Amino acid sequence: MIKILGFTGSLRRGSYNMAALRAARELLPEDAALEIADLSPIPFFNEDVEAEGMPGAVFSFRQKIADADALLISTPEYNFSIPPVLKNALDWASRGTDTPLPGKPLAIMSASPGMLGGARVQYHLRQVLVGLDLKALNKPEVFIARANRKFDEAGVLTDERTQKAIARLLVALVESVREQRLIKAQKAAPPAET
Ligand SMILES: Cc1cc2nc3c(=O)[nH]c(=O)nc-3n(C[C@H](O)[C@H](O)[C@H](O)COP(=O)(O)O)c2cc1C
Repeated sequence: MIKILGFTGSLRRGSYNMAALRAARELLPEDAALEIADLSPIPFFNEDVEAEGMPGAVFSFRQKIADADALLISTPEYNFSIPPVLKNALDWASRGTDTPLPGKPLAIMSASPGMLGGARVQYHLRQVLVGLDLKALNKPEVFIARANRKFDEAGVLTDERTQKAIARLLVALVESVREQRLIKAQKAAPPAET
């Protein structure tokens, strides 16, 4: 079973991005499971707080990342960039030599009522992910534009093309986990006798 941890930088009750994560849970390949983390209990990053010990909510988020084979971020775009809730959570997760982030496969999607579907935040986010050494998939890209027309009032994704796009993204993410496992197994295997 491949374990995926999903999270979003939106705390809004009716969030399209949270709805996109819920939709992803229904569109997974057979051998994958998606847990959605709640970032709302994570406090603002502060090195003084960090020095006193990792807050419980941060510890738990980092543990969930460590336990996951891959990550799925669905993010809103705030002023062409990353919402503070998401950047804050990534900053907390990035700290220390025991950071669970490096090398973790990750897929990105974004939803916005706007025409670009959050294209600009994705490229800003990708810059940050380089610094964190996450293995972000380049393709397929999933921009959920005009999100207000793609989810119903209950937050259910009704747009078939978007459902297919998310399903393709999840297949690619699961595939990248398998590739990574294969490479690790090959590295761990003793050299073949000649
Ligand atoms: C502070 C702020 C800035 C925003 N800036 C952008 C933006 O640059 N581009 C965009 O497409 N939408 C922008 N929006 C609108 C969001 O896309 C919209 O609120 C969206 O529903 C947020 O995602 P959510 O539904 O997951 O909460 C902004 C919203 C807020 C609150």
